Amino acid sequence: EVFGESADASIAVANEIADLIRAKAYARQKCVLGLATGSSPIRVYDELVRLHKEEGLSFANVVTFNLDEYFPMERTDSRSYWYFMHEHLFDHVDIDPQNIHLPDGRIDLADVYQHCMDYEHKIEEHGGLDFQLLGIGRTGHVGFNEPGSNSRSLTRLITLDHLTRVDAGPDFQGMNNVPTRAITMGIDTIRKARRVVLVAWGHKKAPIVQTAVEGERTSSVPASFLQDHDNLTVLLDGEASSDL
Ligand code: GLP
Repeated sequence: EVFGESADASIAVANEIADLIRAKAYARQKCVLGLATGSSPIRVYDELVRLHKEEGLSFANVVTFNLDEYFPMERTDSRSYWYFMHEHLFDHVDIDPQNIHLPDGRIDLADVYQHCMDYEHKIEEHGGLDFQLLGIGRTGHVGFNEPGSNSRSLTRLITLDHLTRVDAGPDFQGMNNVPTRAITMGIDTIRKARRVVLVAWGHKKAPIVQTAVEGERTSSVPASFLQDHDNLTVLLDGEASSDL
């Protein structure tokens, strides 16, 4: 679906999430959201905060699982995804802190495998993801599933691609300060979500959007593994859709 303005597309995504939260609350159920970081979803979060403040949308029944976190990474570091999510969403809504889950960038390397398995189990215990929000990186990654990720991958430690670290460089005063690794949900973790919405804005994303949407399903473009998801919507602005 192509929107003229990314702001309008972001509002449409926020409204869908809000409707889901309300429907689940009405049915006295938890709403399990898979959330993403990066610049692309920021306006979705802005709109959800506005809906909370101005229209009484409650996050009391919301459980969240974020896609990824740099490794190693302190939560107090302003470049952590923990920090990002609190700054853009969690600090401004009535979500129970116990319902917030992100991969933990502070743990010892030796404990990472167990942590990743625990993360998968926690998602399953909550009945799986009702909704997964995604951006896309220029390498074709979703979460931090870099090229080479296979379609059955689960939450794990991965090595970031050069281009991903270049793109994150400005946040870290240069790419050499960008962590070389991250913990990310896998492609299979994401594909199990009952609803997936991928957002991409701007001309820089046009080539990768084209290969991910129209190219063959291949581990060289991990986002292409979403093509056969039965409840996926890709929301683009004019620039991001210009190579389709
Ligand atoms: C990071 C995140 C991804 C995100 C991507 C694109 O690598 N781990 O989840 O989709 O960046 O970021 P942006 O939305 O800023 O272009």
